[in-house]
Amino acid sequence: MAFSMALATGLFFVSLVAAQSNTPFCDSASGICFQGYTDPELDITIGLVLPDPPTDEFIVQMVAPATYGYTGLSVGGTMADSLLFTLWPNGDDIVLGTRWTSGYVLPEVYTGPQITLLPGSGVNSTYIQATFRCQNCTTWTDGSLGSGDQGGFQLIAYVAQTTTPPDDPADVGSTIIEHNDFDFFGMNLTQAQSTQYSSYVAGGSASTTSAPTTTSLPSSTPAPPSSTSSASGATQTEWGQCGGQGWTGPTTCAAGLTCVGVSPPYYSQCQA
Ligand SMILES: *[C@@H]1O[C@H](CO)[C@@H](O)[C@H](O)[C@H]1NC(C)=O
Ligand SMILES: *[C@@H]1O[C@H](CO)[C@@H](O)[C@H](O)[C@H]1NC(C)=O
Ligand SMILES: *[C@@H]1O[C@H](CO)[C@@H](O)[C@H](O)[C@H]1NC(C)=O
Repeated sequence: MAFSMALATGLFFVSLVAAQSNTPFCDSASGICFQGYTDPELDITIGLVLPDPPTDEFIVQMVAPATYGYTGLSVGGTMADSLLFTLWPNGDDIVLGTRWTSGYVLPEVYTGPQITLLPGSGVNSTYIQATFRCQNCTTWTDGSLGSGDQGGFQLIAYVAQTTTPPDDPADVGSTIIEHNDFDFFGMNLTQAQSTQYSSYVAGGSASTTSAPTTTSLPSSTPAPPSSTSSASGATQTEWGQCGGQGWTGPTTCAAGLTCVGVSPPYYSQCQA
């Protein structure tokens, strides 16, 4: 089965939503303040926080509509050679897995990362939410967070299969069909570092990717970060999109910035 981020629908999305980058938000269920992004169309929120100074771990929050078949996350920005996370509901349980693939094929379960679910993880009538600590997660086969610089830049990609659930939702390694939507945002990893990190991980309950846990969700809503957009004809600001298939916005970067193909041929971005 072929998996690809080169779907026409996905490219359309990338061209519509320009210059997405991280903004801060705090989650009252876990007390954790993240850097991340809420996609207004897909209704997906992704948050990330790193220790300061960085180690081999981070905390992730993924929130998506409970009706989605699955939601995926790449902390390497691409599908191939990245640490991937898959999230879907199994009744009232969440099923969270780590996967990896070297190409655009069905990613397989990837062992090594140690997952600990944190407060606020679960499924309610509208959303599925996973807040989790991921240890041994900053390097993986053929890649690493920030390409080895955890104070640098990382493109974060998220995907959704909005209609079709996994073949066996009870199995974290279930066959899943290709996602039907995806998008990206840019993360300044320096801004994601937090001196509060050790207090954030103090309250976690141990879990594994193969043993989903049941938790009830609080009725708190993460404050949606705002996104910025750019108009055609202007020069693009730092981290803004400046190229890629289907891109109709600015292709010139502001003074001092260079247009870099961060996920060629789909996405190029202005970087210093
Ligand atoms: C860390 O993860 C890698 C895979 O990325 C794995 O090979 C290694 O055994 C893991 N180390 C520990 C201590 O779990
Ligand atoms: C990332 O954020 C830090 C802290 O806000 C800032 O000093 C740095 O310039 C940013 N990096 C880039 C490349 O924008
Ligand atoms: C369901 O969970 C989401 C995410 O935590 C939250 O924003 C929402 O308010 C919750 N809805 C209900 C009905 O509890």
